[in-house]
Amino acid sequence: MRRGVMRVVALLIIQHAFADGSSTHRPRFTGGYSLIDRPRRPHRTHDDGISKKIARRNPFMNLRGGAVTTLDKVGSRIQSDVTAIQITIVEEWGKISSAVRLPSRRRRLHADKLDDVCTNFSAVMTGGEIDTAQLIKACRAHLSLVKSGGRALGLVAKDLECNVNKAEHVFKQSRGGGTLSSLLRNERDAGAHNGSELHEDSAAMGLLWIRRSLAFQCDLYSEIAQPGSSQPPKHAACRSYVKHLAPFHGWMLQKVFPASLTQMSSREAMVSKFAGVALDDLDSEVDREVSRKLKSLVSIWRPLIDVWESDFERLGLEDVRRV
Ligand SMILES: *[C@@H]1O[C@H](CO)[C@@H](O)[C@H](O)[C@H]1NC(C)=O
Ligand SMILES: *[C@@H]1O[C@H](CO)[C@@H](O)[C@H](O)[C@H]1NC(C)=O
Repeated sequence: MRRGVMRVVALLIIQHAFADGSSTHRPRFTGGYSLIDRPRRPHRTHDDGISKKIARRNPFMNLRGGAVTTLDKVGSRIQSDVTAIQITIVEEWGKISSAVRLPSRRRRLHADKLDDVCTNFSAVMTGGEIDTAQLIKACRAHLSLVKSGGRALGLVAKDLECNVNKAEHVFKQSRGGGTLSSLLRNERDAGAHNGSELHEDSAAMGLLWIRRSLAFQCDLYSEIAQPGSSQPPKHAACRSYVKHLAPFHGWMLQKVFPASLTQMSSREAMVSKFAGVALDDLDSEVDREVSRKLKSLVSIWRPLIDVWESDFERLGLEDVRRV
């Protein structure tokens, strides 16, 4: 059921659009991303059923773009990563011996995405300030990790990506936004917002939602980082969702987001994805290694998120409206 999540999303959208009586209502992702792409030339796909039905009833809706495509890409990327890893393993091992299986010591080298995220984020804070360029770079590295986290993190990844794009776009065009606080202050002083009601396409809006997403993931990963925990990660995900995101989501997102999180598989499946190994190859050594790295990521994030939040509060930019 690759498209399980999207079926749920699609059904909710249909219900919502028709209950609303408005065919132009466009549910949004956090930070103003539209859940439904702009209308484009319809074309056929093998995922016929639901999207064709929707297109017939409401041509405005095009579920083929956005999240579906992204989830597909994530899927094929996992596949190609796995293949690449397998090829590397075979090649490297072939130099040493003709045996087929590798000791876990060699397999665990593949948690390199997680390593990139940790080292990138640990360079974000300099002298009590957040370095904007490094923050965006770290978010990009993280996005690549989240995308490899599977279907259950598909919406989290999509949301994160669109907010990182938004922040980066403004940052690249601005001058003197080297630190987060200077970027936010410049944008505010240029009259971008209406008080604490942030402009939809502002860097502040993107960065506010990136921070909320990281706070949500922080609590989730700190639970996943407990080896031997019998709690399924989807419970942690839902608890963390209620704490960090739900207060700012309208009813629509409050249905869609948790529904996607309940697709989350076992803790071991999540850990093996972060490790970049097949579930069958996950042994206790790899598990401990990934858990240790997730804990270190969480400990890098917590103080960063605190500074990030106090920058927003000090500048009066904490927009608490629901989307
Ligand atoms: C940051 O992440 C990128 C991948 O996005 C990686 O190539 C780079 O080496 C990382 N930088 C550091 C300092 O770890
Ligand atoms: C600015 O915010 C105030 C207070 O929420 C609101 O009444 C007003 O309509 C907003 N102005 C614009 C242009 O959005």
